[in-house]
Amino acid sequence: MKCGFIGTGNMGGALARALKGKSELYLSDFVPEKAKALADELGGTACDNVCAAQNADYLFIGVKPYMAKEAIDGIFSTLESRAKAPVIVSMLAGVGIEKLESMLPRKMPVIRIMPNIPASSGNGTIMYAANELVSKPKLKAFLDAMADSGVLMPMQEKLIDAGSAISGCGPAFVAMFIEALADGGVVCGLSRADALKLAGGVVAGTARHIAKTGLHPGALKDAVCSPGGTTIQGVRALEEKGFRAATMDAVIKAYEKTIGK
Ligand SMILES: NC(=O)c1ccc[n+]([C@@H]2O[C@H](COP(=O)([O-])OP(=O)(O)OC[C@H]3O[C@@H](n4cnc5c(N)ncnc54)[C@H](OP(=O)(O)O)[C@@H]3O)[C@@H](O)[C@H]2O)c1
Repeated sequence: MKCGFIGTGNMGGALARALKGKSELYLSDFVPEKAKALADELGGTACDNVCAAQNADYLFIGVKPYMAKEAIDGIFSTLESRAKAPVIVSMLAGVGIEKLESMLPRKMPVIRIMPNIPASSGNGTIMYAANELVSKPKLKAFLDAMADSGVLMPMQEKLIDAGSAISGCGPAFVAMFIEALADGGVVCGLSRADALKLAGGVVAGTARHIAKTGLHPGALKDAVCSPGGTTIQGVRALEEKGFRAATMDAVIKAYEKTIGK
Protein backbone atom coordinates (compact mmCIF):
# COMPACT_ATOMS: atom_id res chain seq x y z
CA MET A 1 0.00 0.00 0.00
CA LYS A 2 1.21 3.50 -0.85
CA CYS A 3 0.03 6.47 1.22
CA GLY A 4 0.59 10.08 0.23
CA PHE A 5 0.29 13.03 2.59
CA ILE A 6 -0.46 16.59 1.53
CA GLY A 7 0.40 18.47 4.68
CA THR A 8 2.60 16.86 7.33
CA GLY A 9 1.75 19.09 10.29
CA ASN A 10 0.46 17.95 13.66
CA MET A 11 -2.22 15.57 12.45
CA GLY A 12 -0.79 14.55 9.09
CA GLY A 13 2.50 13.79 10.84
CA ALA A 14 0.74 11.83 13.60
CA LEU A 15 -1.11 9.62 11.11
CA ALA A 16 1.97 9.12 8.95
CA ARG A 17 3.78 7.90 12.08
CA ALA A 18 0.97 5.40 12.74
CA LEU A 19 1.43 4.05 9.20
CA LYS A 20 5.17 3.53 9.59
CA GLY A 21 6.17 0.06 8.44
CA LYS A 22 2.70 -0.65 7.02
CA SER A 23 2.79 1.58 4.02
CA GLU A 24 5.14 3.22 1.57
CA LEU A 25 4.96 6.89 2.50
CA TYR A 26 5.07 9.90 0.13
CA LEU A 27 5.21 13.02 2.27
CA SER A 28 4.66 16.56 1.08
CA ASP A 29 4.33 19.84 2.92
CA PHE A 30 4.26 23.54 2.14
CA VAL A 31 7.53 23.61 4.06
CA PRO A 32 9.64 20.93 2.30
CA GLU A 33 12.02 20.67 5.29
CA LYS A 34 9.11 19.50 7.42
CA ALA A 35 8.28 16.69 4.99
CA LYS A 36 11.97 15.81 4.66
CA ALA A 37 12.46 15.55 8.43
CA LEU A 38 9.41 13.27 8.72
CA ALA A 39 10.52 11.18 5.73
CA ASP A 40 13.96 10.74 7.34
CA GLU A 41 12.30 9.73 10.63
CA LEU A 42 9.88 7.26 9.05
CA GLY A 43 11.87 5.99 6.11
CA GLY A 44 9.49 7.54 3.58
CA THR A 45 9.93 9.70 0.50
CA ALA A 46 9.77 13.47 0.77
CA CYS A 47 8.20 14.93 -2.34
CA ASP A 48 5.84 17.62 -3.61
CA ASN A 49 2.04 17.50 -3.72
CA VAL A 50 1.93 16.35 -7.35
CA CYS A 51 4.29 13.45 -6.70
CA ALA A 52 2.26 12.39 -3.64
CA ALA A 53 -0.95 12.57 -5.70
CA GLN A 54 0.65 10.58 -8.52
CA ASN A 55 1.93 7.73 -6.36
CA ALA A 56 -0.60 7.28 -3.58
CA ASP A 57 -3.22 4.54 -3.32
CA TYR A 58 -4.54 6.50 -0.35
CA LEU A 59 -4.03 10.26 -0.45
CA PHE A 60 -4.36 12.01 2.90
CA ILE A 61 -5.38 15.67 2.84
CA GLY A 62 -3.72 17.06 5.97
CA VAL A 63 -3.88 20.82 5.45
CA LYS A 64 -6.12 23.22 7.37
CA PRO A 65 -9.71 23.15 6.06
CA TYR A 66 -9.54 26.66 4.60
CA MET A 67 -6.43 25.69 2.60
CA ALA A 68 -7.91 22.50 1.16
CA LYS A 69 -9.38 23.98 -2.02
CA GLU A 70 -6.07 25.59 -2.97
CA ALA A 71 -4.12 22.41 -2.21
CA ILE A 72 -6.51 20.26 -4.25
CA ASP A 73 -6.53 22.75 -7.14
CA GLY A 74 -2.76 22.23 -7.31
CA ILE A 75 -3.14 18.46 -7.86
CA PHE A 76 -6.40 18.63 -9.84
CA SER A 77 -4.92 17.69 -13.21
CA THR A 78 -2.77 14.97 -11.64
CA LEU A 79 -5.84 13.37 -10.09
CA GLU A 80 -7.77 13.86 -13.32
CA SER A 81 -5.13 12.03 -15.35
CA ARG A 82 -4.92 9.00 -13.09
CA ALA A 83 -6.66 6.02 -14.67
CA LYS A 84 -7.22 4.43 -11.26
CA ALA A 85 -8.29 7.06 -8.76
CA PRO A 86 -6.64 6.98 -5.34
CA VAL A 87 -8.78 6.88 -2.22
CA ILE A 88 -8.89 10.44 -0.92
CA VAL A 89 -8.60 10.43 2.88
CA SER A 90 -9.83 13.68 4.36
CA MET A 91 -9.11 14.76 7.93
CA LEU A 92 -10.52 18.24 7.28
CA ALA A 93 -12.60 19.30 10.29
CA GLY A 94 -16.07 20.50 9.35
CA VAL A 95 -15.76 19.54 5.65
CA GLY A 96 -18.29 16.91 4.60
CA ILE A 97 -17.73 14.24 1.95
CA GLU A 98 -20.04 16.01 -0.50
CA LYS A 99 -18.14 19.29 -0.19
CA LEU A 100 -14.83 17.50 -0.67
CA GLU A 101 -16.18 15.64 -3.70
CA SER A 102 -17.11 18.99 -5.23
CA MET A 103 -13.40 19.98 -5.16
CA LEU A 104 -12.26 16.83 -7.03
CA PRO A 105 -12.06 16.42 -10.81
CA ARG A 106 -14.47 13.49 -10.80
CA LYS A 107 -16.28 11.23 -8.37
CA MET A 108 -13.58 9.39 -6.44
CA PRO A 109 -13.48 7.09 -3.45
CA VAL A 110 -13.39 9.25 -0.32
CA ILE A 111 -12.88 8.28 3.31
CA ARG A 112 -13.57 11.06 5.78
CA ILE A 113 -11.80 10.59 9.09
CA MET A 114 -11.89 12.64 12.25
CA PRO A 115 -8.77 11.85 14.25
CA ASN A 116 -7.57 13.42 17.48
CA ILE A 117 -4.23 14.36 18.94
CA PRO A 118 -3.80 11.17 21.06
CA ALA A 119 -3.52 9.36 17.70
CA SER A 120 0.08 10.60 17.64
CA SER A 121 0.89 8.20 20.49
CA GLY A 122 -1.38 5.40 19.26
CA ASN A 123 -4.18 6.38 21.65
CA GLY A 124 -6.51 8.11 19.21
CA THR A 125 -10.25 7.74 18.84
CA ILE A 126 -10.81 8.09 15.11
CA MET A 127 -14.23 8.28 13.49
CA TYR A 128 -14.61 7.40 9.85
CA ALA A 129 -17.20 7.38 7.09
CA ALA A 130 -16.77 6.53 3.42
CA ASN A 131 -18.59 7.25 0.19
CA GLU A 132 -20.05 4.48 -1.93
CA LEU A 133 -16.97 4.22 -4.17
CA VAL A 134 -14.83 2.85 -1.33
CA SER A 135 -15.01 -0.92 -1.73
CA LYS A 136 -15.04 -3.20 1.32
CA PRO A 137 -11.50 -4.52 0.63
CA LYS A 138 -10.20 -0.95 0.23
CA LEU A 139 -11.81 0.11 3.51
CA LYS A 140 -10.50 -2.97 5.28
CA ALA A 141 -6.96 -2.41 4.01
CA PHE A 142 -7.18 1.20 5.21
CA LEU A 143 -8.46 0.24 8.68
CA ASP A 144 -5.80 -2.46 9.05
CA ALA A 145 -3.06 0.00 8.13
CA MET A 146 -4.39 2.62 10.53
CA ALA A 147 -4.78 0.24 13.47
CA ASP A 148 -1.71 1.59 15.29
CA SER A 149 -3.26 5.07 15.58
CA GLY A 150 -5.91 4.01 18.08
CA VAL A 151 -9.54 2.97 18.10
CA LEU A 152 -11.25 3.36 14.70
CA MET A 153 -14.96 3.97 14.98
CA PRO A 154 -17.46 3.97 12.09
CA MET A 155 -19.81 6.95 12.28
CA GLN A 156 -22.71 8.17 10.18
CA GLU A 157 -21.29 11.06 8.23
CA LYS A 158 -23.95 13.48 9.44
CA LEU A 159 -22.84 12.83 13.05
CA ILE A 160 -19.10 13.29 12.57
CA ASP A 161 -19.20 16.99 13.46
CA ALA A 162 -21.06 16.20 16.69
CA GLY A 163 -18.62 13.39 17.47
CA SER A 164 -15.62 15.59 16.84
CA ALA A 165 -16.82 18.04 19.50
CA ILE A 166 -16.07 15.17 21.91
CA SER A 167 -13.15 13.34 20.32
CA GLY A 168 -11.37 16.20 18.54
CA CYS A 169 -11.85 18.88 21.20
CA GLY A 170 -12.18 16.55 24.17
CA PRO A 171 -8.42 16.07 24.68
CA ALA A 172 -8.21 19.77 25.61
CA PHE A 173 -11.13 19.47 28.02
CA VAL A 174 -9.73 16.31 29.61
CA ALA A 175 -6.25 17.86 29.83
CA MET A 176 -7.79 20.83 31.68
CA PHE A 177 -9.49 18.43 34.10
CA ILE A 178 -6.22 16.57 34.72
CA GLU A 179 -4.43 19.87 35.31
CA ALA A 180 -7.14 21.06 37.70
CA LEU A 181 -7.09 17.76 39.65
CA ALA A 182 -3.34 18.14 40.00
CA ASP A 183 -3.66 21.80 41.05
CA GLY A 184 -6.03 20.69 43.82
CA GLY A 185 -3.47 18.12 44.93
CA VAL A 186 -0.72 20.74 45.00
CA VAL A 187 -2.90 22.94 47.21
CA CYS A 188 -3.16 19.94 49.54
CA GLY A 189 0.65 19.63 49.69
CA LEU A 190 1.55 17.14 46.94
CA SER A 191 4.51 17.83 44.68
CA ARG A 192 3.51 18.89 41.15
CA ALA A 193 5.05 15.74 39.68
CA ASP A 194 3.21 13.40 42.05
CA ALA A 195 -0.05 15.29 41.64
CA LEU A 196 0.14 15.08 37.83
CA LYS A 197 1.03 11.40 37.93
CA LEU A 198 -1.97 10.67 40.18
CA ALA A 199 -4.33 12.88 38.17
CA GLY A 200 -3.32 11.40 34.80
CA GLY A 201 -3.40 7.89 36.23
CA VAL A 202 -6.88 8.23 37.68
CA VAL A 203 -8.34 9.65 34.45
CA ALA A 204 -6.72 6.99 32.25
CA GLY A 205 -7.48 4.21 34.72
CA THR A 206 -11.12 5.22 35.17
CA ALA A 207 -11.62 5.44 31.40
CA ARG A 208 -10.09 1.99 30.90
CA HIS A 209 -12.16 0.57 33.80
CA ILE A 210 -15.42 1.91 32.32
CA ALA A 211 -14.48 0.59 28.88
CA LYS A 212 -13.55 -2.84 30.24
CA THR A 213 -16.50 -3.35 32.60
CA GLY A 214 -19.14 -1.55 30.54
CA LEU A 215 -20.21 0.17 33.77
CA HIS A 216 -22.27 3.33 33.34
CA PRO A 217 -20.20 6.33 34.57
CA GLY A 218 -23.03 7.29 36.93
CA ALA A 219 -22.97 3.83 38.49
CA LEU A 220 -19.21 4.04 38.99
CA LYS A 221 -19.62 7.44 40.67
CA ASP A 222 -22.31 6.03 42.97
CA ALA A 223 -20.12 3.06 43.86
CA VAL A 224 -17.28 5.36 44.98
CA CYS A 225 -19.54 7.65 47.04
CA SER A 226 -20.06 6.02 50.42
CA PRO A 227 -22.82 7.52 52.58
CA GLY A 228 -21.55 10.54 54.54
CA GLY A 229 -18.11 10.00 53.00
CA THR A 230 -15.44 12.14 51.42
CA THR A 231 -16.14 11.58 47.70
CA ILE A 232 -19.75 12.72 47.87
CA GLN A 233 -18.49 16.01 49.35
CA GLY A 234 -16.27 16.47 46.31
CA VAL A 235 -19.17 15.55 44.00
CA ARG A 236 -21.29 18.19 45.76
CA ALA A 237 -18.57 20.80 45.22
CA LEU A 238 -18.40 19.94 41.50
CA GLU A 239 -22.19 20.13 41.18
CA GLU A 240 -22.29 23.50 42.99
CA LYS A 241 -19.80 24.91 40.47
CA GLY A 242 -21.77 23.56 37.51
CA PHE A 243 -19.13 21.05 36.43
CA ARG A 244 -21.40 18.83 34.35
CA ALA A 245 -23.34 21.70 32.76
CA ALA A 246 -20.05 23.45 31.91
CA THR A 247 -18.73 20.25 30.30
CA MET A 248 -21.91 19.77 28.27
CA ASP A 249 -21.74 23.42 27.19
CA ALA A 250 -18.11 22.99 26.10
CA VAL A 251 -19.14 20.18 23.73
CA ILE A 252 -22.17 22.09 22.44
CA LYS A 253 -20.18 25.31 21.84
CA ALA A 254 -17.45 23.40 20.01
CA TYR A 255 -20.09 21.68 17.85
CA GLU A 256 -21.80 24.97 17.04
CA LYS A 257 -18.47 26.49 16.04
CA THR A 258 -17.72 23.49 13.80
CA ILE A 259 -21.00 23.83 11.94
CA GLY A 260 -20.62 27.62 11.72
CA LYS A 261 -23.63 28.40 13.92
N1 LIG B 1 -4.86 18.95 15.25
C1 LIG B 1 -5.94 18.28 15.59
O1 LIG B 1 -6.20 17.95 16.76
C2 LIG B 1 -6.91 17.83 14.54
C3 LIG B 1 -7.97 16.98 14.87
C4 LIG B 1 -8.85 16.57 13.88
C5 LIG B 1 -8.67 16.99 12.56
N2 LIG B 1 -7.64 17.82 12.27
C6 LIG B 1 -7.52 18.28 10.87
O2 LIG B 1 -6.23 17.97 10.42
C7 LIG B 1 -5.86 18.93 9.43
C8 LIG B 1 -4.46 19.43 9.74
O3 LIG B 1 -4.47 20.05 11.02
P1 LIG B 1 -3.12 20.26 11.82
O4 LIG B 1 -3.49 20.59 13.20
O5 LIG B 1 -2.21 19.10 11.55
O6 LIG B 1 -2.57 21.56 11.05
P2 LIG B 1 -1.05 21.97 10.83
O7 LIG B 1 -0.19 21.48 11.95
O8 LIG B 1 -1.07 23.44 10.50
O9 LIG B 1 -0.62 21.15 9.51
C9 LIG B 1 -0.99 21.49 8.22
C10 LIG B 1 0.27 21.42 7.38
O10 LIG B 1 -0.08 21.53 6.02
C11 LIG B 1 0.83 22.45 5.40
N3 LIG B 1 0.21 23.02 4.20
C12 LIG B 1 -0.60 24.08 4.07
N4 LIG B 1 -0.97 24.27 2.79
C13 LIG B 1 -0.37 23.28 2.07
C14 LIG B 1 -0.34 22.94 0.70
N5 LIG B 1 -1.04 23.62 -0.24
N6 LIG B 1 0.39 21.87 0.34
C15 LIG B 1 1.08 21.15 1.23
N7 LIG B 1 1.11 21.43 2.54
C16 LIG B 1 0.39 22.49 2.96
C17 LIG B 1 1.07 23.46 6.48
O11 LIG B 1 2.21 24.25 6.20
P3 LIG B 1 2.29 25.71 6.87
O12 LIG B 1 2.41 25.48 8.35
O13 LIG B 1 3.48 26.33 6.26
O14 LIG B 1 1.00 26.41 6.51
C18 LIG B 1 1.23 22.57 7.69
O15 LIG B 1 2.54 22.04 7.79
C19 LIG B 1 -6.91 20.04 9.47
O16 LIG B 1 -7.74 19.95 8.35
C20 LIG B 1 -7.66 19.79 10.72
O17 LIG B 1 -9.03 20.16 10.60
C21 LIG B 1 -6.75 18.24 13.21
